[in-house]
Amino acid sequence: MATKPPRAKRGFAARERAPGVRDPLRAPKSIDGHTLTLALPRGRILDEALPMFKRAGFDLGAAEKARAGRRLIIDVPEHGMRVLIVRDTDVPAYVEHGAADLGIAGKDVLEEQDRDLYEPLDLGIGRCRMVVAEPEDRPVDEGKQMHLRYASKFVEITRRHLQSRGTVAEIIKLYGSIEIAPLVGLADRIVDLVSSGETLRQHKLVEVETILDVSARLCVGRAAAKLHAARIDELVARLRAVVAG
Ligand code: PRP
Repeated sequence: MATKPPRAKRGFAARERAPGVRDPLRAPKSIDGHTLTLALPRGRILDEALPMFKRAGFDLGAAEKARAGRRLIIDVPEHGMRVLIVRDTDVPAYVEHGAADLGIAGKDVLEEQDRDLYEPLDLGIGRCRMVVAEPEDRPVDEGKQMHLRYASKFVEITRRHLQSRGTVAEIIKLYGSIEIAPLVGLADRIVDLVSSGETLRQHKLVEVETILDVSARLCVGRAAAKLHAARIDELVARLRAVVAG
């Protein structure tokens, strides 16, 4: 009888991995049997957050190395953790749906999405402000101008702000370079983040008012907060001490 040829391996398991590199889809074993999953935003916040975790006793240096190698799921088995590197605006979705137990997100993102999450700690990093701004040579007269247009990435925050002021206006959703909108007649005002203020200055825009002070927050999913309370409490307490120190 003819023997069957061995079946070719398919899928992820068949791909070659360098020696010592774990299968990123398989979670590492952890201290209490659960791998605490953190959703961290790529970019400046991550650069500032990793040293904070290190000072809190969680060396996520592997995340740094893996990032350089373009890996987006990083196991840190020595702490029973796994790190997901995601877009800043996606962090709340991972955490709310339980794909991550906790994450770091800017207050701007959290306010805009208004999801069902705990926010136990302000990490004090990624500080900036969300402001209303307008061209310095074309100030809006809210009493006279009938059809006002606001451009922003943050349409929900803008909508709530206008509602609280009793202002009726059209909101135009943009995805970046918001400062251009009033210069080319797309909007009368913008709602955007300001850090140094340089982008506003470059485009001859002035602040009308600040509507939100922004910084990065630790956010925790409802289920994770119940199921892994001890580990999350410990993590939050250690990070809180770092923030305070
Ligand atoms: C942010 C923000 C402002 C700028 C503010 O833009 O939307 O445009 O930074 O910083 P500044 O006050 O220090 O000048 P970002 O770089 O994220 O780009 P984008 O919003 O245009 O995508």
